[in-house]
Amino acid sequence: MFLELAQQRRTIYQFIDRKVDSELLNQCLEAAIWAPNHGLTQPWRFYIIGHQTQQKLMHLYAKLRADKRALPGTEEHKSIFLKACDRFKANPQIIMLGQVRSIDSVKSKEDYAACACAIQNFQLAAWEQGLGVQWSTGPVINACETYELLGLNSAEIELVGILYIGYPQCIPESQRQPLSQVTKSYP
Ligand SMILES: Cc1cc2nc3c(=O)[nH]c(=O)nc-3n(C[C@H](O)[C@H](O)[C@H](O)COP(=O)(O)O)c2cc1C
Repeated sequence: MFLELAQQRRTIYQFIDRKVDSELLNQCLEAAIWAPNHGLTQPWRFYIIGHQTQQKLMHLYAKLRADKRALPGTEEHKSIFLKACDRFKANPQIIMLGQVRSIDSVKSKEDYAACACAIQNFQLAAWEQGLGVQWSTGPVINACETYELLGLNSAEIELVGILYIGYPQCIPESQRQPLSQVTKSYP
């Protein structure tokens, strides 16, 4: 039942050590591209990260994390860096999502909404197959090094999300306000 799927899906932060089959990944991507999008702009671009690229991104991710929390050259910096490397390495699969840029601000807002719909389609398709996803907008998507690494022109593409994908190690709990608190009916 769709309601149960939507209610049960959770953001997953820890994964078991199991590869994600590329066929399964493609099914989730197929679900993503059927998201609604105004004017059929189809503004999403998916960057499927392989092992070598994940290793390079790992260094950048860890550096950004450590730089934010400690002084470079200190033991604390080193410790945060190494922990961040382990954390990033433990993601069985990574996909980054880019949005095709538009100079029209209305189109740009609508295209971001479409990208968000695509991500949710992806997440729900993944959850249905037993896969969990963390949708992140962390600093790595804003770093110019990420664009360089992926060979992207930031004037054409804006990275809007990074998806960490894998089989859940544990499923966190989440809550929502009751529907009555967020709805208002009119005669
Ligand atoms: C636009 C957007 C950006 C998000 N960015 C992050 C993020 O940077 N890091 C993170 O841990 N979760 C991120 N999330 C996931 C939310 O934290 C998560 O959806 C929320 O805690 C509710 O949990 P649930 O998805 O399990 O219901 C993001 C979600 C959205 C919609």
